[in-house]
Amino acid sequence: MKRKPAHSSLGGKVALVTGGSRGIGLAIARALHGEGCKVIITARDEPTLKRAARQVGRPEAIPLVCDVRDPQLVQKMLAGLEERFGRLDILVNNAGVAHANLDVAKLPVESWNEVIATNLTGMFLVTRAALPLMNPGGAIVNNLSISATRVFPGSSAYSAAKHGALGFTNTLREELRERGIRVIALFPGATDTEIWKTFWPDAPRPKMMPATTVAQAVVCALTLPAESTVEELRILPRAGVL
Ligand SMILES: NC(=O)c1ccc[n+]([C@@H]2O[C@H](COP(=O)([O-])OP(=O)(O)OC[C@H]3O[C@@H](n4cnc5c(N)ncnc54)[C@H](OP(=O)(O)O)[C@@H]3O)[C@@H](O)[C@H]2O)c1
Repeated sequence: MKRKPAHSSLGGKVALVTGGSRGIGLAIARALHGEGCKVIITARDEPTLKRAARQVGRPEAIPLVCDVRDPQLVQKMLAGLEERFGRLDILVNNAGVAHANLDVAKLPVESWNEVIATNLTGMFLVTRAALPLMNPGGAIVNNLSISATRVFPGSSAYSAAKHGALGFTNTLREELRERGIRVIALFPGATDTEIWKTFWPDAPRPKMMPATTVAQAVVCALTLPAESTVEELRILPRAGVL
């Protein structure tokens, strides 16, 4: 992606995107890079992550392998970021997984644990480790989902994690208000990414948004004048909720 001239208000900012190896995370990483940010991306699968780092643009994004469920790996990843840049300006908590569409009575505890550990505890772990590196003027974008405020049968663990992540996000915003760090709750509707294979393989993809549209909305929110903020960013396909 071509970089904008240095006058973008995001030029030179250090941005970390978790789950940045594909889908919405990669699109956000590319968009931030296009605004002149120095971008760090994380995910578990190293070859895919390294490929994504090259796709982000030139200079390449920094790929730091990390499983957001593991507190030690998260600390190590943020230590690597600190060593390189000394600070963090924008954190995008995006890493997430879904689970097979199953009613509560049939949902394996392993699926429950994986989704809660990734989508909820992972967000807490990365945020906690990142906060000492953040300064006034910084921003945290938490990728929730419309599933943070409404429910779909068969998605109990996903819904529980996203509802919990919304509570976490709202609390974090109040804690950081005095420090001048913006906290944005991102609620994307159906977006055409791999996550759908897990729970609705035949979902109507032409009705979905491309991940680049979500990324564009995030950049709009982050480039608002410093005295304002978008607390909730709800972006849906024109077709509505699928
Ligand atoms: N697509 C939609 O319609 C939609 C709508 C609303 C919200 N969302 C949310 O958007 C976020 C991104 O989803 P997506 O649709 O872009 O899905 P995706 O294409 O499957 O991407 C998920 C990303 O998260 C990473 N990830 C998964 N588990 C991880 C872990 N334990 N540690 C670190 N990274 C991990 C994946 O890489 P590895 O597997 O290599 O770790 C990948 O980079 C999720 O939080 C999802 O809930 C999606």
